[in-house]
Amino acid sequence: MLIKVLGAAAGGGLPQWNCAGRNSVDARLGRDGLKPQTQASIAVSANERDWVIVNAAPELRQQINDNPELHPRSDAAARNSPIKAVLITNGDVDAVAGLLSLREGQPFNLYGSDRVLGILAQNSIFNVLDPAKVRRIPFVLDTPFEIEGPDGPAGIVVEAFTVPGKVPLYLEDETVGAAGGFGTKEGDTVGLRIADTDSGAHFFYVAACASLDERLAKRLRGAPLVFFDSTLFTDNEMIDQGLMPKTGTRMGHMNISGENGSIATFEPLGVGRRIFIHINNSNPVHRPGSDARVAVEAAGWEVAYDGMRVEV
Ligand code: MLT
Ligand code: MN
Repeated sequence: MLIKVLGAAAGGGLPQWNCAGRNSVDARLGRDGLKPQTQASIAVSANERDWVIVNAAPELRQQINDNPELHPRSDAAARNSPIKAVLITNGDVDAVAGLLSLREGQPFNLYGSDRVLGILAQNSIFNVLDPAKVRRIPFVLDTPFEIEGPDGPAGIVVEAFTVPGKVPLYLEDETVGAAGGFGTKEGDTVGLRIADTDSGAHFFYVAACASLDERLAKRLRGAPLVFFDSTLFTDNEMIDQGLMPKTGTRMGHMNISGENGSIATFEPLGVGRRIFIHINNSNPVHRPGSDARVAVEAAGWEVAYDGMRVEV
């Protein structure tokens, strides 16, 4: 099974349009090894012909143009696409906005939790995806199911499971801070176990996660490969850099460093390959050679980048 990272950055991307922070400036100038990164998404294929996209980033059109595997075939009908299905793990703008770039009448299947499909159903702009061509199929949580394209199975089996997360930013209301979990409802944020139907080779994709609780730790223990949320390196970094008065905790994301950070909490889990994805533009791991980057690499983690290829 082949995985291509279409986008490695968190919401806003790198550089972010209105950001004069150090990473954004250096990514704009191509300085110190920083390169622009689009918002988080991967493409997965079991046969290198049919592709399944996980999360529809706002840059999806650019991501398709940048990845030849996702181009229409020249020996088929004048309108065709190797993209057979799109899976959505949460309702945030960075995970759904790209659906609007898939509106040109091409059949594919759209999968998400009942919760996220419900949010899309309430936003009539997504009706631009003709229901006769784009079937919306709810995940049955905690149950493996075969991903279907419009012309049959895509060769991939997925299990979706709820992880600690947060209600999308645009659905936050005044009650959001009042209780634990920021008003999260089941299915707001899911992780995916993605397997090759034939070989059984598999990996996990958890690009948004507020904490690594017992349930998730149990699921990930001994996994061969995990892509994991790496929004911030330290909880306060956006405040410290003068970017925004929000912690990572308040955004519903775990940070990389510290006692409750992802490096420390993954340590006892024996996960084979660990790749950070959904990396905010404030995060120093974007910068090759930074103390943070050196620390994550010393801890055995890799940092995703647009165009990264991973085989399982
Ligand atoms: C997040 O991951 O917290 C969201 O992408 C934030 C946003 O919608 O900008
Ligand atoms: Mn996000």
